[in-house]
This record gives sequence, C-alpha cells and structure tokens, in this order.
Amino acid sequence: MSTNASNSTDSFCNFEPKREYLVPALQEVQERDGYVSEAAVEALAKHFNLSKADIYSVVSFYAQFKFTKPGKHTIKVCQGTACHVRGSGNLLKALKQRLGIEEGQTTPDGLISLEHVACLGACALAPAMVVDDKVYGRLTLPELEKILKELK
Ligand code: FES
Repeated sequence: MSTNASNSTDSFCNFEPKREYLVPALQEVQERDGYVSEAAVEALAKHFNLSKADIYSVVSFYAQFKFTKPGKHTIKVCQGTACHVRGSGNLLKALKQRLGIEEGQTTPDGLISLEHVACLGACALAPAMVVDDKVYGRLTLPELEKILKELK
C-alpha cells in the first residue's frame, strides 16, 4: 500500500467502521485530497470491511466525489439556460479544443481541470465561468484566451 493510502487511513480512522459512516469518510477524503484516489478506495474498503467495488459504487453515485486528481486550477463553465443562450457552448467548445481535454478531465501537465455547471447564480453576467473562486462574466472568446494565458 502506498504512502497516500496510509495518509487516507489516518484521516478517516475516527469513523466507526459502519457502512453509514462511509459517505462522511469519503467526504473527508474528497475535501482533503480533492479526489478519491485508488489508494484511498483500498484503505476505505479495508477500514469499512467492504469490497473496493462497494466503495467505487458509492463514489460513482454521488457527483460530489471525483476519481481524478484536480488540476492546479479548475475552470467551471456555466451551461445554464441564460449562459447557453448567450453562447457558453462556444466557450466550452473553445476551451476543450484549446486545452485538449473533455469536461471532467485535467490537462496532462496537471494545470487545468475543466468542468461544466448548471448555473453559477450569476445569470446577469451570462455567459459566465468560474476559475477557482473567481467569476468571469459576459465572456468573449478573446477574453477567454487572455484568461488562459494568465493561468499558464
Ligand atoms: S445560467 Fe449561467 S450563471 Fe445562471
């Protein structure tokens, strides 16, 4: 077992090894690591006396859990109605082409993860996206290029 796995074990040892504590334990791992690694799945399976398939099944069920390590920066492009009407689909398409990844993926250098969200709650700024915690609104393709250059 890797070092990461033993770290994962440390973080959720305080949970009783009962199935009802699996989701809180996963939330702790997700919060700490930004994803649920294979090593964490192994450690959780051992701690809760479940199969790895059981753990993967729970992780897959909840959108809050991710299997891949997030990039240094996360770009979330809004695909809600207001943003969609104002061209967020083109922004997302441009980002995919520019970064060479699909939604839910991270660039090979680990710099940027790409996601879409249903609504950022900033509809007046459509089309909008969030980079880490910063909201960008009324985006155009040239502005998108500028933001990407700043991230690199
Ligand atoms: S639809 Fe995009 S912020 Fe609401």
